[in-house]
Amino acid sequence: MHIRKLNIDEKPPMALLLLADPSKEMIEKYINRGECFVAESEQQTIGVYVLLPTRPGTVELVNIAVTESQQGKGIGKQLVMSAVNSAKIRGFKTIEIGTGNSSLGQLALYQKCGFRIVGVDPNFFIKHYSEKIFENGIQCRDMIRLAQEL
Ligand code: COA
Repeated sequence: MHIRKLNIDEKPPMALLLLADPSKEMIEKYINRGECFVAESEQQTIGVYVLLPTRPGTVELVNIAVTESQQGKGIGKQLVMSAVNSAKIRGFKTIEIGTGNSSLGQLALYQKCGFRIVGVDPNFFIKHYSEKIFENGIQCRDMIRLAQEL
């Protein structure tokens, strides 16, 4: 597997991006302001992540996804570590990520990669998404904010 930055003339892998964020509208808003990276294996795009500068010295990992047939094989962990490294190389001091209170696997993954919980944005998913979201039998209501100093 090889991870590389997407070239400016290449189309971002929308089907993959939609796995992490059901809102095409939101994706279109941040994709051109951020940097998109793809993971490839045997000429197939199997993963994606997007880094978006938010405040001075801070970048957010706004989207990360692995194609369904390839999940659970350690690729997500490699993508998170690659995102942390890319942020460090670019001179950012802090990398942040937000996920749902019901996204138990993602919360485990990010903490295994060195992120700490730094806050909660209560009712974020109620306010910003029209459909109710359920995962692991839990309604997704609040955004858990995580960060890592670089
Ligand atoms: N409980 C505990 N640990 C869990 C877990 C769970 N429910 N689900 C995953 N993990 C752990 C794994 O055990 C692994 O840790 P380990 O290496 O110590 O065993 C770690 O998380 C990473 O697993 P990995 O195989 O690298 O993850 P992946 O390749 O499946 O990618 C996602 C993870 C989240 C990127 C992938 O599942 C995905 O694309 N999901 C859909 C999109 C999405 O939800 N994106 C994030 C939006 S916030």
